[in-house]
Amino acid sequence: MRVVVVGNGGHARACLDAWDAASGLEPVGYVAPDSGDVLGLPHLGSDHDLAALAADGLRLAFVALGSNHLRAEVSSQVRAAGLELVSVVAPTAVVGPTATIGPGSVVLHRAVLGARARVGSGSIINTGATVDHDCVIGDFVHVAPGVNLAGTVTVGDRAMIGIGASVVPGVTIGADAVVGAGAVVLHDVPAGRTVVGVPAEEK
Ligand SMILES: CC(C)(COP(=O)(O)OP(=O)(O)OC[C@H]1O[C@@H](n2cnc3c(N)ncnc32)[C@H](O)[C@@H]1OP(=O)(O)O)[C@@H](O)C(=O)NCCC(=O)NCCS
Repeated sequence: MRVVVVGNGGHARACLDAWDAASGLEPVGYVAPDSGDVLGLPHLGSDHDLAALAADGLRLAFVALGSNHLRAEVSSQVRAAGLELVSVVAPTAVVGPTATIGPGSVVLHRAVLGARARVGSGSIINTGATVDHDCVIGDFVHVAPGVNLAGTVTVGDRAMIGIGASVVPGVTIGADAVVGAGAVVLHDVPAGRTVVGVPAEEK
């Protein structure tokens, strides 16, 4: 099944690099305002060409943009153009049989989703991140490389957990919150707030 990739930056390359050739999904090109290096994929036009691509018979898309807000906005545009969002799971990722992943999400190399972990739509579980049992990850979240979420952690929509951060069991990270790189989060983080450090505190 043919898939158009939306985006041409570093995150798009990471997603293409982790694409599972055995998934039955074939990336056939990318759309972006400019041409770029997406590991040899052809440039099919800009976001404005999505409806034309859908009219030509392309049915599936994957939005490979690193910014949570941009990914959410562009995902709406992709759906409005008549395309369905697919999810991408690296062949090196470990996804437990009871974990679930929503449309448009990506699980990159060596990430782990534990028992009954739930990942919403359009979210990024980046390289080597662990999302342990019974975690609930919202929509358009970014769990950065090397993050460790203990069991029963909840992450609200569009939150960003920075590279290498750790979150202890039962904590809730609010929507649009930011956790700084390397933070150790021991308590709930209110929506829209940024916390950094060990233990994590508001800056
Ligand atoms: C938390 C973060 C978002 C803050 O960014 P920012 O708003 O631009 O903040 P600044 O760089 O201006 O730093 C503000 C203050 O917070 C401190 N700070 C920033 N990030 C910090 C971190 N991760 N841990 C500890 N302190 C941090 C700075 O030292 C600075 O302190 P000061 O006021 O005493 O000098 C950013 O530093 C960060 O950690 N981003 C994570 C990026 C990431 O993992 N991306 C994933 C890529 S795949």
